[in-house]
Amino acid sequence: MITKRIKDLAVKVLNKEEIKYVRNAFDVVGDIAIFSDFPEELKKKEKLMGKLILENYKHVKVVMEKVKEYSGKYRLPKFKIISGENRKETIHKENMVRIKVNPEKCYFSARLGNERLRISKLVKPNECILVMFSGVGVYPVVISKNSEAKEIYGIEINPNCHKYALENLKLNKISNVKLYLGDVKKVIKKINKKFDRILMPLPKSAENYLDLIKGRLKKKGIVHFYDFALESEIPKSCIEKVKKVYPNAKILNVIKCGN
Ligand SMILES: C[S@@+](CC[C@H](N)C(=O)[O-])C[C@H]1O[C@@H](n2cnc3c(N)ncnc32)[C@H](O)[C@@H]1O
Repeated sequence: MITKRIKDLAVKVLNKEEIKYVRNAFDVVGDIAIFSDFPEELKKKEKLMGKLILENYKHVKVVMEKVKEYSGKYRLPKFKIISGENRKETIHKENMVRIKVNPEKCYFSARLGNERLRISKLVKPNECILVMFSGVGVYPVVISKNSEAKEIYGIEINPNCHKYALENLKLNKISNVKLYLGDVKKVIKKINKKFDRILMPLPKSAENYLDLIKGRLKKKGIVHFYDFALESEIPKSCIEKVKKVYPNAKILNVIKCGN
């Protein structure tokens, strides 16, 4: 996320009244800048704002704004290009990997790069890992490149994500990742394995899938359970959700990641 100078830059194209509405942040996925809440009051100036971003952030080639909230079967947003090249696909670089993605067709958060690296650093040599909800494969690919994991399994329900994930394995020359397309509830039954580590990066509803991993962890295995919570509810609410299904689980750590 870039939080510098947008207001300062905007003085060139906006008047004093308009400047008040400028939000000082946008996300960058690859070479695409994304405004998640472009102010209504500045709609008439959006092209000018987009141009300003292109001129001042040389790595940005496309500027988009979110025009529809997360919705539909795969809970995806809609974006409108306001400036730059006419494409929504990009290659995002992080943690020594390259990830091809179209943020309108696949969920992707550039803000979680540090979290992905944190997990990779916890992985011990020869671990067998399951990434439920693997998206465009960013967790499997980052872990593969930054650890000595033996094998990593990913499960994703959105066919577009799965397609990009397969491409991302090739792009990064990854050979120890196996990806499955389908609902984790069905697909997990096809993977006859126990894991050293299971990741559940579905913060909106991961608790609904906790019972699926019963009997799937090796002794001393670790689960990374992601959850949305108010700052004031951390760590209580996440621990409660886990303890409801696994009263004897040992909580190793609760950390804040994302926003
Ligand atoms: C929050 S995104 C995380 C994606 C990826 N791990 C990342 O960090 O970019 C959750 C993903 O889970 C997928 N998903 C949701 N429900 C699923 C299910 N029942 N089975 C498999 N995948 C599912 C969604 O399509 C989405 O790509």
